[in-house]
Amino acid sequence: MRIPENGLSGEQVFERLRDLRRKDAETRGGRAWGLVYDSGLEEAREVAERAYVEFLGLNALDPTAFPSVLRLENEVVAMAIAHLGGGAGVVGNFTSGGTESCFLAVKTARDHARATRPEVARPEVILPITAHPAFHKACHYLGLTAVPTAVDPETFKADAGAVARAVSPSTIMIVGSAVSYAHGVLDPIAEMAAVARERGLWLHVDGCIGGFLLPYYRRLGRAVGDFDFTVEGVSSMSMDLHKYAYAPKGASVVLYRSKALRKYQLYACASWPGYPILNTTVQSTKPGGPIAAAWATLNFIGDEGYLRLARLTLEATERLIAGISGIPRLRVLGRTDTSLIAFASEDVNVFYIADEMKRRGWLIPPQPSFGPSPASLHLIVTASSLPQVDAFLADLRTCVEAAAGRGLRIDPALRDTLAALDPSSLTDEMLSRVVGAAGVEWDALEDSMADVNSILDSLPPQVREALLIAGGNELFTPAK
Ligand SMILES: Cc1ncc(COP(=O)(O)O)c(C=O)c1O
Repeated sequence: MRIPENGLSGEQVFERLRDLRRKDAETRGGRAWGLVYDSGLEEAREVAERAYVEFLGLNALDPTAFPSVLRLENEVVAMAIAHLGGGAGVVGNFTSGGTESCFLAVKTARDHARATRPEVARPEVILPITAHPAFHKACHYLGLTAVPTAVDPETFKADAGAVARAVSPSTIMIVGSAVSYAHGVLDPIAEMAAVARERGLWLHVDGCIGGFLLPYYRRLGRAVGDFDFTVEGVSSMSMDLHKYAYAPKGASVVLYRSKALRKYQLYACASWPGYPILNTTVQSTKPGGPIAAAWATLNFIGDEGYLRLARLTLEATERLIAGISGIPRLRVLGRTDTSLIAFASEDVNVFYIADEMKRRGWLIPPQPSFGPSPASLHLIVTASSLPQVDAFLADLRTCVEAAAGRGLRIDPALRDTLAALDPSSLTDEMLSRVVGAAGVEWDALEDSMADVNSILDSLPPQVREALLIAGGNELFTPAK
């Protein structure tokens, strides 16, 4: 495929784009339980889109050229700090998303440790097993060792005792979730902060998915443990605005207790013949659109508006938990502190339930088993979920029955061979043969993922990862 010799008309461009979108999940209306966050407020979406487009061409790389973008970033960060109990001295930056915010927090903690504890040759980061993969990825990119610690097998909250026991002379950082993605639960941040204070360690609280909602849940009367900058010992926090603040994608913040800590995040380069670089985040050219859209969304919906949205979310979550718990063969894992529900089944393969639901127009991301958490289905409940609750539960009941008795169609001998593989010795060629032998039909993946998920679920995590990379390497093949 080449750039077309003569450009298409605007009409043709949009025709092609609309055509490509035909098989996509819905982004509005509450039928997608993952990947998208819909406030249900049509006008808020329009305001955000207008702001996005108006600032699309602006570049935050040079705040002297576009002071408006600097001002918007500083206002968004100030609102986030106030929302998370930050007092004078707390600072932060706008980033492209949760992964960038978490990545920057780890990089900043690493560089802070390099400056203050140069004797640590091989820095370690303590990650309860429910911490988001963004932290594993950061450790991987930055050459740090991730040290996983246990969570409670019933509540799925981090075990602060296990964190304390995992501290070694090489530990530089502890990560807690507010809340965890997989089960939506709040880690014991105050206890983890006590460990961090006592041992002189950096504590990052990942509020990417829960940080925005938790203060509203508290105002709605829910018991919410302390988790933000009001807890002494919290060094940094991340909070996404493209999740429960309902800003368009590409919007998150990373916050630090002080400028003295944040300075390790910044990067400057004057060692070349071009313009002197000062980058606050990973991006250098940084689009103004997401910042303006996040600012517009926060200002348009406002505090009372967000409280109303949180009330709708809470009601939908409670009705879903009660409804799912009432369906034979299903059980909810842990007890979410916000709006994320994981549910499992003792005797029905949940991946087939997800496929059955997809045929009825519901998108439900599955989660393979890991540690004490069995294979489950995951719901991100939003303010637009409430009107869908009854229809969803009725379909779920039917789909559980439809999926009962279905299972892995893969040859058990192949599965055993896969499980026995040493991931470090797998070559690209072996992996593509494995993917081929498993009979995965790439074109059919949008319709049926149950077999692929069942294969992955039956394998050790490191083999899953090797297979995912092999699969991704195939999926992203230049179009013909
Ligand atoms: C707790 C948590 N941290 C980090 C992230 C990463 O955010 P993003 O997907 O915006 O990079 C997520 C995403 O769901 C999350 O739930």
